[in-house]
Amino acid sequence: MDLERFVADMPKAELHVHLEGTLERDLLIRLAERNGVDVPLPEGGFTDLTSFLAQYYPAMRALVTEQDFFDLAWGYLERAAAQRVRHAELFFDPQAHTGRGVPFPTVVAGYRRAIVRAERELGVHADLILCFLRDLSAEHAMSTLMEALPYRDWIVGVGLDSDERDNPPQKFAAVFARARAEGFLLTMHCDIDQPGSIENIRTALTEIEVDRVDHGTNVVEAPDLVDLLRERGIGLTCCPISNGFVTDDMKATEIASLLRSGVRVTVASDDPAYFGGYVAENLVALTRAAGLTPDELVQLQRNAFAVSWLAPFRRDAFL
Ligand code: ADE
Ligand code: ZN
Repeated sequence: MDLERFVADMPKAELHVHLEGTLERDLLIRLAERNGVDVPLPEGGFTDLTSFLAQYYPAMRALVTEQDFFDLAWGYLERAAAQRVRHAELFFDPQAHTGRGVPFPTVVAGYRRAIVRAERELGVHADLILCFLRDLSAEHAMSTLMEALPYRDWIVGVGLDSDERDNPPQKFAAVFARARAEGFLLTMHCDIDQPGSIENIRTALTEIEVDRVDHGTNVVEAPDLVDLLRERGIGLTCCPISNGFVTDDMKATEIASLLRSGVRVTVASDDPAYFGGYVAENLVALTRAAGLTPDELVQLQRNAFAVSWLAPFRRDAFL
């Protein structure tokens, strides 16, 4: 089988990509020049989540105007269309922008304009997921949620990202409860090999009652939680190339084992501009490392559409 060809031809849903993580070097340089700001260029060499985040947030200073946020999202959506992504759910980190004086409406309007145009011109459907930064306070997250309420029609759900150490899910229980009451769907990062990883996954599933889990592959260590994922049909959005940077291990064995045990595993790219692989490259890397069959590759994409937050009439067209 020509693996690259097979992967290229599959219609795809991508459920775990951070828009700010799609800031490619050439766009970063262009935006920094356009805005007259001095921005450190990412140097790579990440060995864990903390060392990645230390380069990730400073680079965002290049993003200032509504047009910048449009350009960022448009660039991603063009690359997604070229990889036959038909639906993408796009994380964004408003607090990383509002915290340095960029208004929330500027961020969300730029991203939304790109999404509307991409549906018309590229045939890619996309939705936004607002991520709270878990290393900031719950109060800051709650006030960000309040800022998002006027844009509810543009934002399908909320997530939780940034540094998991000492920032467990229960810190945001009230924020997530309010988000649920306001009609948002819920997901959260349970990053790979973080301290307290299993307990955080347990809290996310049983107390926060998330609809999906981002990463979460440490769940293989807790058979009762694997059963719970399967019973509830909850999706895991796994990012093998990112795992390879953040932990030195793609976790291909764990991802394949979860897939083969019937968990709705999906594969996505996380921060492709930093980790060097979009969704197709992630699928190829995982297939090579875990020896997936063509049927298993197709199952990954079926899972992605099944656990996507598309309206049923759109989702069912892909199943
Ligand atoms: N923000 C962007 N990418 C992230 C990741 N992989 N984990 C936590 N926070 C993130
Ligand atoms: Zn992520």
